[in-house]
Amino acid sequence: MRYPLIVLILALTALAGGFAFVEWSKGGSGAGLYSRHWSPEAVQGYWDPATFYQSPDSVQGVFKGEECVQCHEAVTPGIVADWRNSRHAKAGERVWCSGCHGDDHQRLHLPTPAVCGGCHGKQHGEFKAEADFGFPSHVLAMDRALSAPHFVDKPKAEVQSCVQCHSVATKCDSCHTRHRFDAAEARRPEACITCHSGPPHPDDETYFASAHGRLYRAEGDQWDWSKPLVKGNYKVPTCAYCHMEGGRHQVANKSLWKFGLLEVNPHTAANKALRRDWVGLCGDCHEAEKARQWLSDLDRERKQAWKMLNEAEAILKGLRTEDLLFPAPEERPAYPLEQRPRAHIGFYEGQASAFYNVSAVERDYFEMWYFDSLGAYKAAAHGDWARISKGHKGMAASLEKIRQQAGSLRDLKIVEQKAGIEASTEGLWQRGAYTDYNRDQN
Ligand code: HEC
Ligand code: HEC
Ligand code: HEC
Ligand code: HEC
Ligand code: HEC
Ligand code: HEC
Ligand code: HEC
Ligand code: HEC
Repeated sequence: MRYPLIVLILALTALAGGFAFVEWSKGGSGAGLYSRHWSPEAVQGYWDPATFYQSPDSVQGVFKGEECVQCHEAVTPGIVADWRNSRHAKAGERVWCSGCHGDDHQRLHLPTPAVCGGCHGKQHGEFKAEADFGFPSHVLAMDRALSAPHFVDKPKAEVQSCVQCHSVATKCDSCHTRHRFDAAEARRPEACITCHSGPPHPDDETYFASAHGRLYRAEGDQWDWSKPLVKGNYKVPTCAYCHMEGGRHQVANKSLWKFGLLEVNPHTAANKALRRDWVGLCGDCHEAEKARQWLSDLDRERKQAWKMLNEAEAILKGLRTEDLLFPAPEERPAYPLEQRPRAHIGFYEGQASAFYNVSAVERDYFEMWYFDSLGAYKAAAHGDWARISKGHKGMAASLEKIRQQAGSLRDLKIVEQKAGIEASTEGLWQRGAYTDYNRDQN
């Protein structure tokens, strides 16, 4: 009788302890799960104003909108010119500088999404509700970056860039930039590719190489971008046409393959419903049956990619079990967040941290997964046929290399055992400028 009660009490204590630990972790000078492992630079106030912005107090006074404009005409003429050209300055009831920044110059604020939401409830409401779809999503982007182990595992000089892109969560001027806040700008692909570019997410290259992107490049400058993104207004779709359907401020609501990070089953009822939404969208311009076939080619591409990834993971796990990774985990420097170094194999074992401090064969796998596979995924999603084969060729080459290295490591072990050699690197990898700098600077 008493036994279940004890179990219950222990479970509740553990749960409470877990919550307390998470709260404690978030209580440092940074933000997010690892807030105790980093401290913010001043510039962080611009990327995440709600958490870090501090107003200057060099100018004193409470000003009316006209006064802000008058003085800033001299201080920041470019900003005033953009504002004058914006809908905010032209609206019946003008939105002055003070409408977004406050009127007390010693207590200025930089507008968070909630400030814009005060007048744009629809967009802000949609944006917040995106959290219901989980990650990846714009609204959760800042949390995701700060809570990724590599945000603190890598030196600050490298990770300061993370928040520039992931600030899409913490301010509304990513796509319609300040101080024009122009909807037409946001409809074009250039608004997205400041962030959606680079080897793990080559959305720019894959889109511009597709039939859609090539037509956009050839003719887009002649189109009337003041029209909303709905059926009949545009000849080919842009990023926002497909991912923010009808101007809805959400990008995660149709996401099925989730950035290509996970192997999903496209045939579950929920995923079939998402696919129907996609086909409906393509149906603005194409026959539904054709669109369905194009999109099932994407599923086939993913199946093939995961077959190669799974095989490579199995080989690596075998090498780890046989203690053949070289240098072995215990011979290399730990990541700042880890007491003891360990092998990073597969997404759930912390692949995202496998940028440094790994053996050559693990790094080959990382490149295969992070660059070639994710690149091929985007190529298949966006219709860049040449890049699909490039990605798959890269993956096949890495897999072959991993197979060969596994073979050599096993052969070497046998030879060493016969000769009685005890191979050790004696902490060779545990010292060095990069490691020391990394430890000191976070
Ligand atoms: C519709 C809201 C809005 C209005 C109106 C507005 N701003 Fe801003 N302003 C912003 C946003 C958003 C940022 C970027 C905040 C960030 O980076 O976190 C910003 C940043 C700034 C900055 C600092 C960063 C930079 O770009 O150099 C200055 C200075 C500034 N605004 C001045 C003004 C002045 C002067 C006016 C009036 C002519 C004005 N703002 C009107 C939204 C607004
Ligand atoms: C008398 C001139 C003057 C007036 C009036 C004035 N500003 Fe400024 N403002 C400045 C100067 C100078 C700076 C740069 C301050 C600094 O960097 O220390 C500045 C900076 C700013 C910044 C940037 C703060 C940052 O952290 O980058 C914002 C935003 C801003 N002003 C908004 C306003 C608003 C809103 C009003 C009206 C309520 C206003 N200003 C009225 C002179 C003025
Ligand atoms: C005080 C109210 C107010 C605030 C605060 C405000 N806006 Fe606006 N916004 C307006 C009004 C009014 C219009 C013009 C609507 C119209 O003409 O129909 C507008 C128009 C817009 C447009 C449409 C522009 C176009 O090209 O059609 C965008 C985009 C926009 N705002 C973004 C923002 C963002 C982002 C913020 C926060 C940084 C913000 N607004 C803050 C009132 C506001
Ligand atoms: C300021 C940078 C920035 C801009 C500009 C930007 N994004 Fe993003 N976007 C991100 C980040 C960061 C993520 C990943 C969020 C995460 O970590 O969960 C993301 C995620 C996404 C996703 C993935 C959603 C999912 O469920 O897989 C889509 C789709 C997307 N963005 C579309 C767009 C489109 C379309 C535009 C332009 C209209 C755009 N983004 C503009 C930074 C940006
Ligand atoms: C050039 C802009 C950019 C930079 C810089 C950047 N990211 Fe991202 N990140 C993105 C985009 C865009 C996505 C979404 C990819 C997709 O869905 O295709 C993403 C996805 C992610 C994801 C996976 C999505 C999720 O919710 O799990 C994580 C984690 C992440 N980024 C963390 C980081 C960290 C940590 C850094 C710095 C080391 C960083 N990012 C730097 C743009 C960027
Ligand atoms: C990922 C890019 C992106 C981000 C981030 C973004 N917007 Fe937009 N916004 C767009 C696009 C694209 C349009 C044009 C939609 C259309 O054609 O219907 C738009 C249009 C608007 C409009 C004009 C709507 C109309 O019908 O005239 C407002 C207002 C607006 N956004 C407010 C916001 C607010 C508030 C936020 C922050 C919560 C925000 N936006 C963040 C891409 C973005
Ligand atoms: C013709 C419609 C279309 C256009 C245009 C388009 N995409 Fe996509 N995009 C897709 C489809 C379909 C997927 C795969 C979605 C799935 O099944 O999860 C995808 C996937 C993505 C993803 C990964 C999110 C996910 O759901 O896995 C991101 C991020 C993304 N696209 C960004 C962009 C950007 C940025 C642009 C413009 C440079 C763009 N897309 C242009 C249709 C489009
Ligand atoms: C706004 C209209 C529009 C939408 C929406 C649209 N497309 Fe297209 N698409 C075009 C046009 C125009 C072309 C180029 C002419 C052609 O080949 O039919 C094209 C070409 C293509 C091609 C190349 C065809 C070939 O023969 O090479 C593919 C594949 C494609 N689209 C897939 C899609 C998919 C998948 C979707 C939905 C996720 C989609 N499109 C949404 C207008 C659109």
